[in-house]
Amino acid sequence: MQREICGTCKLRKTDGQIHMVHNGDITDEDIEENYILACCFSRWAA
Ligand code: FES
Repeated sequence: MQREICGTCKLRKTDGQIHMVHNGDITDEDIEENYILACCFSRWAA
């Protein structure tokens, strides 16, 4: 069985803090470079 993942909404955050809960196609390296999955964050604090 092949696991399907998505990363269509991946974008780079330029400011603020978020809480992201996801099962999408984003790596730890992406996160360290401020990439987020726009569909998967629950908080924004500028
Ligand atoms: S739309 Fe697929 S991870 Fe956001």
